[in-house]
Amino acid sequence: MSVPAAAQRAVGPSEAAIVVQDLSKKFGDFVAVDNLSFEVSPGRITGFLGPNGAGKTTTLRMLLGLVRPSAGTGLIDGVTYAQLDRPLQTVGAALEATNFHPGRSGRDHLRVLAATHGIPDSRVDELLALVGIPAAARKKAGGYSMGMRQRLGLAAALLGDPHVLILDEPSNGLDPEGIRWLRGFLRHLASQGKTILISSHLLSEVEQTVDDVVIIANGQLVRQGTIDELHGEATTLVRTSGSRALIGALRGAGLEAGDEPAQGPGAVRVVTGDLAQVGDLALAAGVPVHELRVLRTDLERLYFQLTESPENRNRNLDTGAAEPPPEPPVGPPPVAATPDRTGPEETDR
Ligand SMILES: Nc1ncnc2c1ncn2[C@@H]1O[C@H](COP(=O)(O)OP(=O)(O)O)[C@@H](O)[C@H]1O
Ligand SMILES: [Mg+2]
Repeated sequence: MSVPAAAQRAVGPSEAAIVVQDLSKKFGDFVAVDNLSFEVSPGRITGFLGPNGAGKTTTLRMLLGLVRPSAGTGLIDGVTYAQLDRPLQTVGAALEATNFHPGRSGRDHLRVLAATHGIPDSRVDELLALVGIPAAARKKAGGYSMGMRQRLGLAAALLGDPHVLILDEPSNGLDPEGIRWLRGFLRHLASQGKTILISSHLLSEVEQTVDDVVIIANGQLVRQGTIDELHGEATTLVRTSGSRALIGALRGAGLEAGDEPAQGPGAVRVVTGDLAQVGDLALAAGVPVHELRVLRTDLERLYFQLTESPENRNRNLDTGAAEPPPEPPVGPPPVAATPDRTGPEETDR
């Protein structure tokens, strides 16, 4: 179905390029995605997080028209994927476990894709250089490492110069250097105003990459916000042999302060990001300071609390639950997607 360009731009009162609204997916009796709603803003990198089996890939597949929602909608530029006039030029997608024809070179794979969309070969070589595999891409894709497949998938997603990018577990299989490269690359794309949604089962892997987070567990939203909000209020750790006197002085100055036994003996936690003020108050109170530093929120611990709390405990860890048979996908596959692989075995490792 063709929708006027004006309608594709009109995303209503929200600036979001991706809008997921009350989206659900059932496989038989199994609720893989449960009434999920969130939005993804342009110019930002949004991390779509949750443990393995939480429903990330299923959600992304629904957004890309590869899985039919049981209820709700996933919209890109205000319309469903199937309604996009120029999907390749609007959304670039790389789903996990993407397969390329093993006997064909990565470059040829992209050239075929480009040709069917009227994109010149020069763009293919430009992209291969951009993702850092210009030479390797001339070899057969069958011998590619996971990291090379990720980079090739990224190049394929970018072929049509889309302004929305959806990447499923793009850090999987990348070494630390590759993850750093990906971070810079995505940051560059976001600075051009692109909307970037990346999934990961590990918060620590994308913590330094993302601006916003959408965290799900068992198909349900458990937390949404900026990464700064996730870090919470700035707190300071100060270690002293005079914690009683120091806590008194800090509280006297109107600060929230208390012992922090988890940080060892003499540790005091203060709700402020102002290290100088804490140091000055300690000096004025005449107590020695043995350590003074910003206390970073342990995001990984928070993430596990959010996703593994009793009510959100990963249902896939419960034993004995038989998996329903895979349902065939619907709709045309977007770039680099593999519509024939929906089984749970092919999801995250
Ligand atoms: N085609 C399918 N048929 C049956 N169950 C499925 C299918 N696809 C996914 N699931 C199940 O739905 C849940 C969510 O899977 P998935 O979206 O792949 O999670 P994630 O990407 O977060 O790891 C898992 O329990 C998975 O086994
Ligand atoms: Mg997945």
